[in-house]
Amino acid sequence: MATATKQQGAVIKHAPKQQVVVEVDAPSRREFLYYIWGASIVLLLGEVTAGILWFALPRFKEGEFGGTFRFSGNDLPIAGSAPVNLPSGRFWMSNTNEGYVSLYAVCTHLGCLPKWVDTNDRFECPCHGSKFEEDGIYIEGPAPRGMDRFVTTLTFSDGTTASTDSDGSPIPLNGKTVVEIAVDTGNRILGPV
Ligand code: FES
Repeated sequence: MATATKQQGAVIKHAPKQQVVVEVDAPSRREFLYYIWGASIVLLLGEVTAGILWFALPRFKEGEFGGTFRFSGNDLPIAGSAPVNLPSGRFWMSNTNEGYVSLYAVCTHLGCLPKWVDTNDRFECPCHGSKFEEDGIYIEGPAPRGMDRFVTTLTFSDGTTASTDSDGSPIPLNGKTVVEIAVDTGNRILGPV
């Protein structure tokens, strides 16, 4: 209610004090927290799903280094012939008397690219002279081990398959006809010491 006071003949009216009431809408605040929690859970689930997909999906496409390269059996070098280089896959296809092996084309010393030298029937590294057999076995030079190998799976005409073992040794063909060669350049086995 308004009150009045006299001051030198003037009447000053005081307006009634108004109470400012700040209403806190408790249910709305609760809802807001629910939204925050909901958004956090959705975000967390999104991150988990993205993480699962990241690990589940292949990181490299077929036919690019890091992924799998597939060839017809017709591309298999003749046993005992010079290994065949595949620069895009950074490996050599080598069909030795012991079987087939995919050799990583990078020298195990300091990373140069050994070349196949027909006249010497071996790989020779141009940088510091390391030498390797047709199946990548170390012969001489500063390289600490033989050439590394990529895990390979051969599919034969009878429907059977054979894969590189844990040592990376050549896969025996046992007189079978190879119809497909699958070289996994994302799966490297260190060459023998
Ligand atoms: Fe091949 Fe040094 S990089 S011998």
